[in-house]
Amino acid sequence: MARLPLANWNGEELPLEDVLVPVQDRAFFFGDAVYEAIRVYGGRAWLSQEHFARLSRSLELMRIEVDLAVIEQRTQETLEHSGVENGLIYIQVTRGAAPRTHYFPPEGTVPNVLVSVSELDGDPYAHLRTSGAKVITHEDLRWARRDIKTVNLLGNCMAAQAAREAGCAEAILISADGSLTEGTHTNLFGVSNGQLLTSPTGHHILPGITRSLVLRLAERAQVPVIERPLTIENVYSVDELFLTGTTTEILAVTEVDGRAIGNGPGPITQRLSATYHEAVREWLESAGH
Ligand SMILES: Cc1ncc(COP(=O)(O)O)c(C=O)c1O
Repeated sequence: MARLPLANWNGEELPLEDVLVPVQDRAFFFGDAVYEAIRVYGGRAWLSQEHFARLSRSLELMRIEVDLAVIEQRTQETLEHSGVENGLIYIQVTRGAAPRTHYFPPEGTVPNVLVSVSELDGDPYAHLRTSGAKVITHEDLRWARRDIKTVNLLGNCMAAQAAREAGCAEAILISADGSLTEGTHTNLFGVSNGQLLTSPTGHHILPGITRSLVLRLAERAQVPVIERPLTIENVYSVDELFLTGTTTEILAVTEVDGRAIGNGPGPITQRLSATYHEAVREWLESAGH
């Protein structure tokens, strides 16, 4: 059995804790790197094509050039060698190591590519599935291109820490105009009068892979969707609220800033969550599991 998390660092397979990153890597100086996190169910990478498409877009927008096919192959190999059945794949591509300058490093600077596979001990949110999660609202302190999945996550970390200190699972971020963008590592959905509400995509949120899946599942379940952001004025009075994310899956929110939302996880949240798990089961069955 491989020592986990198992990594592939620029083509070399080794335990993650043994990876050494050069101090001049631009991710260290500037957060100059993009990443992806992919869920593993039954030893297989869930929605991997969607994740690689988003990685490709992030790389293009940041003008980092790598061979994505090589990264996909390393990801598959690392997953197989890890033996992980239920876990998470983390991929990070940095602009590479070079003397510190704000402008891009000289041509020929080679990106550093990390792939790692870790195991999840069951469902990390198991304790919140029946009660639902408590969240706080928090100022959105992030930069203006949240649609690019970069490792510049300090605004997310500050808000996540504030949530933790308030005994909450997540922080929902508020823009200057009072609209709610998303969570620190999740997208946000509300349910009002039987309709799903979520922020449209744009520069202000990450286009979550789980978010798009939920939109497809809602269509199949004939739940109408309005892509309009919730606001700090209407969030406390929605019928249901939930978060979506690769590890979070679909998680009901039952308290915002100490105010109750519904009576426990709501019926539409529960229905979508059940269809999510059905979709995973069907996909695993189609692969012979
Ligand atoms: C800021 C932010 N929003 C939303 C998400 C959810 O995206 P996904 O469903 O692709 O995991 C993430 C995931 O890490 C995130 O960091």
